[in-house]
Amino acid sequence: MFTRFNKTTPTGRAGAAVAADPALVEKPGLTARMAAPISQKTAAEAMAADRDKKRKERLTELKVEIHKRLLEDLNLSALESATEQNLRQEISSLASEALDEMSVALNKEDRLALTQELYDEVMGLGPLEPLLKDDTINDILVNGPRRIFVERAGKLELSDVTFRDERHLLRIIDKIVSAVGRRVDESNPYCDARLQDGSRFNCMIPPIAVDGSLVSIRKFKKDKLRIDDLVKFGAFTDEMAAYLQAAVSCRLNIIVSGGTGSGKTTTLNALSSFIDNHERVLTIEDTAELQLQQVHVGRMESRPANVEGKGAVTQRDCLRNALRMRPDRIIVGETRGEEVIDMLQAMNTGHDGSMTTIHANNPRDAISRLENMVAMAGIEMPLKAVRSQIASAVNLLVQASRLQDGTRRMTSITEITGMEGEVISMQEVFRFERLGIEPSGRIIGRFNATGIRSSFSDRFRQWGYDLPASIYEPTI
Ligand SMILES: Nc1ncnc2c1ncn2[C@@H]1O[C@H](COP(=O)(O)OP(=O)(O)OP(=O)(O)O)[C@@H](O)[C@H]1O
Ligand SMILES: [Mg+2]
Repeated sequence: MFTRFNKTTPTGRAGAAVAADPALVEKPGLTARMAAPISQKTAAEAMAADRDKKRKERLTELKVEIHKRLLEDLNLSALESATEQNLRQEISSLASEALDEMSVALNKEDRLALTQELYDEVMGLGPLEPLLKDDTINDILVNGPRRIFVERAGKLELSDVTFRDERHLLRIIDKIVSAVGRRVDESNPYCDARLQDGSRFNCMIPPIAVDGSLVSIRKFKKDKLRIDDLVKFGAFTDEMAAYLQAAVSCRLNIIVSGGTGSGKTTTLNALSSFIDNHERVLTIEDTAELQLQQVHVGRMESRPANVEGKGAVTQRDCLRNALRMRPDRIIVGETRGEEVIDMLQAMNTGHDGSMTTIHANNPRDAISRLENMVAMAGIEMPLKAVRSQIASAVNLLVQASRLQDGTRRMTSITEITGMEGEVISMQEVFRFERLGIEPSGRIIGRFNATGIRSSFSDRFRQWGYDLPASIYEPTI
């Protein structure tokens, strides 16, 4: 039983909790911005900003020059074995020499910043390094060399980091993809890769990317959000967590659906924490992101074809192979193609308790996506047969959403109850109700039960998860 599950919490009635957490919601929205007086920059401020800009430009020029010299002077073969401290000292002294030669004097702060940036250029990913190190950033999105956006607390903002030019950006891209044995060029202008720290990376270079290379990085979080964290952040309630614990433990087949960046993988990862430690879990992903805590976990990562078009290992290949590896559960990071057939079959044939995510905006949409994927996999089956396959394979749809105020919420938990004629019947058990929007742009809402008792209640009870009937009662 979910340990923190407590029906008499002072926060309110069972089955409902007001979700908005002021700590999570930030930034004035449109209305507030319109109400506030437009701030006028004073002349002094403008001059200071101008000075700062010029200082940055000068530092960039210096960096380019010194970097060129560094590449000539540094013993590149010794870099591998050098300790970080030695390397920093070496770079710092080479930089000092170069600055002296150029008769440039820098204050201590600028000198330190310059050494750090040079170190990042030589050893790391240049301008991306500070963004990768910043834990408050979830995503880094590069639109050409001058525009780098970051996502913080669910909101996108333009950062003040830039690349020197497109060549500089391309050099960093090349560094990333060549480290994983891939290449991007005219004939192969895009690539998926994983950074050394585990972050998910995708790039597309010109001429396909029209205004300069496009890069997207989903930062890898060492400490993935756990169920406790998600409840604390207002992604769902204690009651929903207790229900989900019962659902995972009783081996329901679960699909987490959601839009891009809505928290699907995070939810899947958190749900996996309810899997018993004795089970053998196999995970299959295009880019390994999941971090399961169980002892017995086998991780697989698919592989695209190489430059000659050979050597591809698809998620479907991994899945088929996984079925021969005596899994208790199979977790597919995201089902997006033909592997859907094997996933549904696995769910239908004894590998219950399997889980995956799917890209869809609501539970009905998730079902349509599944149907489409089956059709696109080239399986000629009447629609009704496809639907009945889906209805008997999938037990639960969990909807993850990123709301317009940047918060991520579990907006629906829906059970699939069978078929009615040609249609898959579903019942929503929990939902997020939007009640309004604050002037600040923050969405006001609460989680509520729909009043429908779970169709798996008996199963939950038989497995020892006797959830009180009150968690299904809605708050009026
Ligand atoms: N409830 C939450 N509260 C705060 N941050 C969250 C929450 N859920 C997820 N995140 C963060 O949001 C980012 C996106 O989450 P995640 O990778 O799970 O999304 P996704 O739906 O799988 O995205 P994609 O469609 O790109 O695969 C991550 O950095 C994650 O840590
Ligand atoms: Mg994901």
